[in-house]
Amino acid sequence: MTGDAWGLAGKTAVVTGAASGIGRGIARALAAAGARVGVLDHDGDGAEAVVSEIVTPGGTAIALTCDVTDVGAISGAAARVQAAFGPCTVLVNNAGILRPGALADLPLERWNQLLSVNLTGYFLCAQTFAAQMRAAGGGTMVHVASIAAEHPTPLTGAYSVAKAGVAMLSKQIALEWADDRIRSNVLNPGMILTALSRSIYDRPGVTEARVAAIPSRRIGTPEDVAEAALFLASPRSAYVNGAEITVDGAFTRNVLGLIPRAGY
Ligand SMILES: NC(=O)c1ccc[n+]([C@@H]2O[C@H](COP(=O)([O-])OP(=O)(O)OC[C@H]3O[C@@H](n4cnc5c(N)ncnc54)[C@H](O)[C@@H]3O)[C@@H](O)[C@H]2O)c1
Repeated sequence: MTGDAWGLAGKTAVVTGAASGIGRGIARALAAAGARVGVLDHDGDGAEAVVSEIVTPGGTAIALTCDVTDVGAISGAAARVQAAFGPCTVLVNNAGILRPGALADLPLERWNQLLSVNLTGYFLCAQTFAAQMRAAGGGTMVHVASIAAEHPTPLTGAYSVAKAGVAMLSKQIALEWADDRIRSNVLNPGMILTALSRSIYDRPGVTEARVAAIPSRRIGTPEDVAEAALFLASPRSAYVNGAEITVDGAFTRNVLGLIPRAGY
């Protein structure tokens, strides 16, 4: 794409959990579209590595070492990115963890840990960066949830519950902050190969079984998710607010495709 096709050139964007996987893919895509990117992650070395990947070909980025459960650290990161690039007008809430476990005996600590990163962390970042968006006259938020937000996922502890919470948080923001010209939308990735999910695919037969269940016949990539994130981050989605985009190769449309049919 040539020129400023996305309308993102010179905008200040912050992507949480951007040291790896989907966040890294979105940070790189935003930078390639001309945005100045705060690569926020509690893995400082990983964030610096992604900054190098962006800066080497001519992009603009800084690393923001920050734990999204720590409100003081988020405020510090917000101040650093504003000082470097001006107010953040694009926030991508993405930092997430998996803490598997059966609900029957899930320790409270594990439940709370997942909710504090995957749900409360999204709220804290939204609240903090919204202040910069208001001062700048508006902004846009993209929250990476999951197809698990609508589909209970066995033995994943609080994961689906947190993702369902993200979906509602986004709609709540869309209503409450529309007068501030802040938009809020959700991306629901399906099965994407990243560090978070790699151990699942390392088990024999898993990739083949999953691909067989996905109508698009492949596992998704962070770049697949990043393309949709660019749209929601950009002014080209100016009237899209309180919405969700699912990026799953039609997997969640395949319930009836998974049962045997009578020879037709
Ligand atoms: N991979 C998938 O199949 C998939 C599917 C649907 C949704 N998602 C969601 O996409 C998002 C990104 O997942 P991914 O697969 O790229 O995972 P990943 O493990 O590759 O990346 C997650 C990043 O978040 C960072 N992080 C974790 N806790 C943090 C904290 N407290 N503060 C700051 N940073 C923190 C990690 O350091 C890491 O860089 C998550 O919200 C995940 O739930 C992933």
